[in-house]
Amino acid sequence: MNEAIRPGPESPLQAAGLPQLSVVVPTFNERDNVTTLLRRLEMALKGVAWEVIFVDDNSPDRTWQVVRDLARQDGRVRCIRRIGRRGLSGACIEGILASSAPCAAVIDADLQHDETQLPKMLAVLQADTAELVVGSRYVEGGSADSFNRQRAGARARATGGAKQLRRGAIADPMSGFFMIRRDRFEQLAPQLSTQGFKILLDIIATARGTLRTLEIPYTFGSRLHGESKLDSMVALDFLGLVLAKLTHDTVSLRFLMFAMVGSIGLLVHFSALYIALSGFALPFPEAQGLGALSAMTSNFILNNFLTYRDQRLKGFAILRGLLLFYLVCGVGLLANVGVAASVFDQEPIWWLAGAAGALMGVVWNYAMSGLFVWRRR
Ligand code: GDD
Ligand code: MN
Repeated sequence: MNEAIRPGPESPLQAAGLPQLSVVVPTFNERDNVTTLLRRLEMALKGVAWEVIFVDDNSPDRTWQVVRDLARQDGRVRCIRRIGRRGLSGACIEGILASSAPCAAVIDADLQHDETQLPKMLAVLQADTAELVVGSRYVEGGSADSFNRQRAGARARATGGAKQLRRGAIADPMSGFFMIRRDRFEQLAPQLSTQGFKILLDIIATARGTLRTLEIPYTFGSRLHGESKLDSMVALDFLGLVLAKLTHDTVSLRFLMFAMVGSIGLLVHFSALYIALSGFALPFPEAQGLGALSAMTSNFILNNFLTYRDQRLKGFAILRGLLLFYLVCGVGLLANVGVAASVFDQEPIWWLAGAAGALMGVVWNYAMSGLFVWRRR
């Protein structure tokens, strides 16, 4: 190597002006917040070589365009515009993997996290006191005994913000504000789930107690502009992460919900069949048809509100979606019966053939409705 370009012994990063810290900011409809966040990062990170990577899931409010404009004026700013994908965890993972500073931080765009903690967090990683630093919220004025994490936060505050070093459970595993050493993150990344928003919990669970972790309490601010994207269904998200971990990402929560909705559909089918037969004295074929139609309709509605809540069809698209869903399920029924019949041909065990057919049907319906009914734009 040429003498002139060989990095010096101390702090080669600083010498080359390369970032010591990559800040990753997931965004969805945050156009009014990103510029302020950038200014605040600038203030907070004076004296640190840093870069910021905004990961935007093609926000309808065109946040990505605002970020692009910022990036044109400032080489430290980058924008990843993801099309056809949604999800906080996946966005954070992609942002960290698209950067290369030895330390990576994740922070929300809506100014609810306290960016002035970043230098402190970076110092902890650089001193190798910990490999992961978590910004833990404590709720001011919140009742101290309603949640453990609030209690832990209050405790930390009472001891003057004293930090506790941990390896396993932490007070605020749902925090979206943390900093991690790149090498440790790269080790864990292949096992992380890209679905949902519990990235920190996932990192900690995947590391299985091997990550030296430190918590720094901060005050969770209130949102300046826009609204929260994490609705009341987030509890399901947690279930999804557990499931993905248990099955090594083979079974998604979405599929399981789809199948669960399908079993509810079975109940709807039998109820409608029964009512049509005994209440309205319809002939059997008509009653059975009505049962199937009711089941498909209720399945569609439930899937639209639960399974695909993040890409719910609204307005006129509901009608179009419903018709497509009927079509998909109709073909699914043919596939179901076809598979069941051929299994029964080889092995005349009624329940085995029935189960094989039903599995075929649900997998088909799931795959096809994901492709055609709740297609990602
Ligand atoms: N790229 C991308 N894709 N970004 C997203 C998505 C998405 O699907 N959903 C949300 N975001 C971004 C938001 O734009 C914001 O910058 C950040 O992720 C957090 O989203 P909010 O909608 O503001 O979440 P919150 O304030 O309700 O949730 C808080 O609690 C969560 C769980 O306890 C935050 O502190 C989260 O970080 C935390 O995970
Ligand atoms: Mn928020």
